[in-house]
Formats: sequence, C-alpha cells, structure tokens
Amino acid sequence: ITVQVNKPGAPVAKTMYGLFFEDINFGADGGLYPELVKNKSFETDDRLIGWKGIKGASALSTYTVSSQQPISEKNSHFLRLTATTASPDAGFVNEGFRGMGVKEGAEYTFSVYARRGPGNVGGLNVTIEEPARAQASGPEAPASGKVLATAKITGLTNEWKKYSVVLKPSATAAKARLKLTVDGTGTLDLDVVSLFPKNTWMKRENGMRADLVQLLKDMNPGFLRFPGGCIVEGVTLDNRYQWKETIGDVASRSPIINRWNTEFKHRFTPDYYQSFGLGFFEYFQLSEDLGAEPLPILNVGMACQFNSAELAPITAAGGPSAPAHDHAEDDPTLDTFIQDALDLIEFANGPATSTWGAKRVAMGHPAPFNLKYIGIGNEQWGPQYLERYEPFAKAVKAKYPNMNIVSSAGPSPGGELFDKASAKLRELKAELIDEHYYAKPEWFRENVGRYDNYPRTGPKIFAGEYAAQSVAIGSPDNKNNWDCAISEAAFMTGLERNADVVTMASYAPLFAHVDAWQWTPDLIWFDNLKAYGTPNYYVQKLFATNPGTTMLPVQLGNNAKNGQDNLFASAVADDKAGEVVVKLVNYSPQPRTVTLNLAGAKKLGKSGKAIVLASNDLQAVNSIEQPMNIAPKEEKFAVKSSTISYTLAPNSFTVLRVPGK
Ligand code: AHR
Repeated sequence: ITVQVNKPGAPVAKTMYGLFFEDINFGADGGLYPELVKNKSFETDDRLIGWKGIKGASALSTYTVSSQQPISEKNSHFLRLTATTASPDAGFVNEGFRGMGVKEGAEYTFSVYARRGPGNVGGLNVTIEEPARAQASGPEAPASGKVLATAKITGLTNEWKKYSVVLKPSATAAKARLKLTVDGTGTLDLDVVSLFPKNTWMKRENGMRADLVQLLKDMNPGFLRFPGGCIVEGVTLDNRYQWKETIGDVASRSPIINRWNTEFKHRFTPDYYQSFGLGFFEYFQLSEDLGAEPLPILNVGMACQFNSAELAPITAAGGPSAPAHDHAEDDPTLDTFIQDALDLIEFANGPATSTWGAKRVAMGHPAPFNLKYIGIGNEQWGPQYLERYEPFAKAVKAKYPNMNIVSSAGPSPGGELFDKASAKLRELKAELIDEHYYAKPEWFRENVGRYDNYPRTGPKIFAGEYAAQSVAIGSPDNKNNWDCAISEAAFMTGLERNADVVTMASYAPLFAHVDAWQWTPDLIWFDNLKAYGTPNYYVQKLFATNPGTTMLPVQLGNNAKNGQDNLFASAVADDKAGEVVVKLVNYSPQPRTVTLNLAGAKKLGKSGKAIVLASNDLQAVNSIEQPMNIAPKEEKFAVKSSTISYTLAPNSFTVLRVPGK
C-alpha cells in the first residue's frame, strides 16, 4: 500500500465526522434529557400518561385532572389530589420512563407548582421508592415498596407557587418511582412535577444525562445534527417539530405526541411524547459543549414521509402541487416555514436588540451560537420538495448569504427520483446534499468507491444518516454486530478518500433505550443507569478522533481497487500532530500482512501507534453486561524506515499513526 505523503491533497473538513440526534427510541425524554417524571405537566392527550393511583388508594383519596385557574394558559391542566383519609398509602405515583434510574447518595431535585385547596392539608409527602414488583399495565400501581428517599413540602398557600427540595436515595435502583401523598386530609393542586438529577453534564440546571454526553464528547464530533429525522416533519404537519415551541421556560413548553409513537414494525410505545425539555436552546448549548457545529434541520413544509403525506401550500392560494390538508386550525403556507428558519438564525446569532436574539439572551446565552449550517427538509425529494426548497433557500441566502444550506436528495441512493433530485440540486447550485443509506452490510463494502468519480465541483456531500442493517431496513431483528460495524468502517475509508467532496457524515440513529426502542440498529444503547457504545460506535469514534487535517492519496498494490480482496484503506496527514494516519480494514477471517510505503515521508519517528478494533466473530455485539466486548486496543509497532510491514488481524479495522510528515 503506497501512501503519498509528499502529495497532500485537500484539507479534511473539521465537520467531517459528526452526530445525528433524533428523539427516537427514548433518545431525548427517558434518555439524554434526564427528567425522571413522565408527563410532568398533565398536558399529553391522555392527561394521566405515566401517573397511577396506588392499589387500594382509591378508598383513601381521589384525583382528577382539572383546568380551573391553571398556572398559565399554555400549561392549562393540573392534578387535583384529595385525601379523604390520612394515610401514607393515599398516594399517586409517577412511573418514569420504564422506571426511574436513581443512584445511591446522588442528589435529585424535586420541584412542583402547588396550591392548597379545602381541608386540613399539612403539606405534600414526596417519596422515591422501589416498587415491590415490576410496574404492571393495569389502572393501579402495585402497593408501596422500599423507600429510598423522602421529603416533605410545607408552607403551601392558596396561590400557585413553585417549591423544591433535594432528595438523596439510600440505594441505587434502575426502576424506582416517585410517590406523592397529601399530608393530612384535603385537596392539593399539583403541576410541573419534576425530579431531576443534580449531576447533569456540566452540572447545568435542565442539563443532559452526563454519562450519555460523555460518550458523545469522547467521539470528538465535528457537528451535531438535530432534531431529526422524521421528527422534523411529523406524521402530519400538525405534528411537525416547531422550534419556537421548545424555547423559554421549561414549564411552558407543551408536549406533542412523538412521531415514533406509532406502531412501527411490531413495536408500539403508546406513551411516547416529546416534552421539549430538551429544546432548541439546549441543542445549541449541547453543540457548544461538544465543540460541534450545530446543524438544525428544518421542515420544508412537508409532512413525513416520502412525499405521500401533507404539503404546505406554497402560497396562501395554494401552490402548483398542494393538496388541501385538513387541519383548519393550523394552515401554514411555505412562508411560515421560511420565516421560522429566518427567525431561528436570528435566535442563534442575532444581537440582544433583535426579537429572537433577545430570547436567547434571556435564556442565559448572551454570546451568539455562531450557527453556520441549516438543513432544509429531511429525506425529501421529487418536484414537491424542489419547488419548496428553491424559494426557501433563496430567502435564507438573501438575508444570510454566508449560511451553508443542506438540501435533501431523499433516502436510498440509486433510485431514479434520487438521481433526478441530485441533478436538479446541482443545477440550483446547492451547497451540501444530504444522502441517507440504510442497507445491508455488503452494500457498504461494495459501495466504497461511491464518490471516487463524483464531480469535484458543485455540491458537497453530507452523508447525513447511514447504518448497515444486519437483517433488513427497519427490521426489529437488526443487530449492532461486528459485521455491520466493520462494513461501515470499510465504507468510511471511501468517504475519507473523498474528503474533498464528502464534508460531513453521521451514523443514525444515535441512541436507544433497551426497554423502549422503535428502531434498530442504533449507535449507543442505554438503560436507566448505564450506557454502552456498540462496535459501530467505536468505528465512528476511531474515525472521528483520528480525522487528520489533510487528505493523502493511497494506492493499493498491483493497482488493486479499494475493497478488492476485502482490503480497504485511506490515509490523512495530521498536520497539527505531525503524524501520518492510515486506516485499514481487513474484512477477512485470515490475518493479512501489508507493506506500507510512506512515499516521500520525512522525519519519521522510531515507533508508531496502532489502534485496533477486531473480532473473529462477525456476529459479536456489545451489551450492557459486556460493554467492551468489541472495543479498541492500542499497541506500538516499530518504524525502521518509510517502508513498514504490519500484520492486520482477521476481521479488523486498524488505525496506524506514524510520527512524520
Ligand atoms: O434514523 C431513523 C429514520 O430514518 C429517520 O428519522 C429518517 O430520516 C430515516 O428514514
């Protein structure tokens, strides 16, 4: 293998390897967003999702959802709890997101808006407990279990007021619950009930789950794409993601049904809502914390999915291909979507004196977020998309000429519609085309040359969603196995060899809760206490932590094509570290010795570092119990001259770092 160290190519974009985040598989609520109370404001369609009376408690207390004099117009429902008999079992519990994960000795802030009603109410008893047995699906929760922490809220008045108290569980539990009871007898009104860990990422209030952010930070991501995925579009336009509804006071953010709260490939999570506790401000802040460029994807006026669903008319009179949609109370035209995009840019970058910039400042971030990229539409294509994309992009460019716009060419590259969309986007001088590939592992190995003959001028490529599917796209049996991961590594050598054209890439989806997923495979899996990276995660991590700064040409021996004989290679120079970085994939059950010729290399060090990800078993996976079954291992190797002999392990992905230039 010859690496032409003396013929450096184009720079590798700083955004090259990034993250795709979507609230799918409990990725936000129940995942990255660590609020433990499900449906804290009683604003879901079924107002009591997540809440239950304790078995037998109905003889001691009653509860209703009321809207008489609520805390605000936006948050118009609350829980009215009346204890008729004083009893520690006159309780009402919140089950959390498949239980609540709490840790011994850690601090959790309980907060609530409360108001006293008639009776002799002494206060509100708050208990974190481990139920005696697992949560059943019946109307009542099982009787009380082991108490892990208690507190009492006192000093209640006849007016709504926010109260808070810190609880410290005496033991760790993966499936705890929160119990609320009236102290004494009488009526209490409760709203915005929250139990939030204090130990969030960077100890932020309303911050993110620290162990999950750590896994992201460890990847050194170049960008963070949010909020999806199909979440952007919604099943109907009513159900689309509206960023303006996700900023400001958390208590005033109204939940909507999650687009993935639907029967999907035999899995149904009927309690899946988006609380928007993780909203656009938090996404920008997270991007900043990660050192990643924020990349919001915006709705182009089309519902999910694949051009079969609702379209917003291009003008109030209706655009050329705009079927009427049946939601009279919310009839946005394309202008609404365009305005949302312009306002978003102002929210992210505008001064304190601007309408939307002022809102960012009020939320505690006076400095601009320095937004440079926005995506128009997710996985859309065809004439309906293009006729919306064009005026949309024009309006953004007219006001913000330096904004980089990501456009969409639709899913499954290769189809005629995809090709037509790409050609039209090229004609429109699109900057970045978002391509998605969900396919079998062999597709990834066979398509390593996908961008080798791609035009070197015109739009760049954002490989915005991809993952090898071990069984079939959307199959619940797909596994994050080594076969998929090593095939993605092989494909990514092709992205890296074409880094002058491909400037952004992200695996999808990012997260999945082991008890509440709708889609597999996923990069990072977690339960209520722990998380692990899949073999695919380690592939992404190795690329993203060894991205280099400049492309280097690579040639396999005997003029072999990349991927021939199941050998794949790419190389970059890391100009900052003064190292040559070579990535090699040996998709073969045999070890393979390669001779690496670092042509024209100077100032070579005496030894190099190899980072190896390997398994003899292509079906091997990681799990909560065995999180590091497949994980990188490092070793040193001797560098005697610019010709280096190295033996690749069977079925391995290896990163070689050699000091020199
Ligand atoms: O990543 C899961 C889904 O796949 C995304 O929401 C969508 O964009 C794609 O079809």
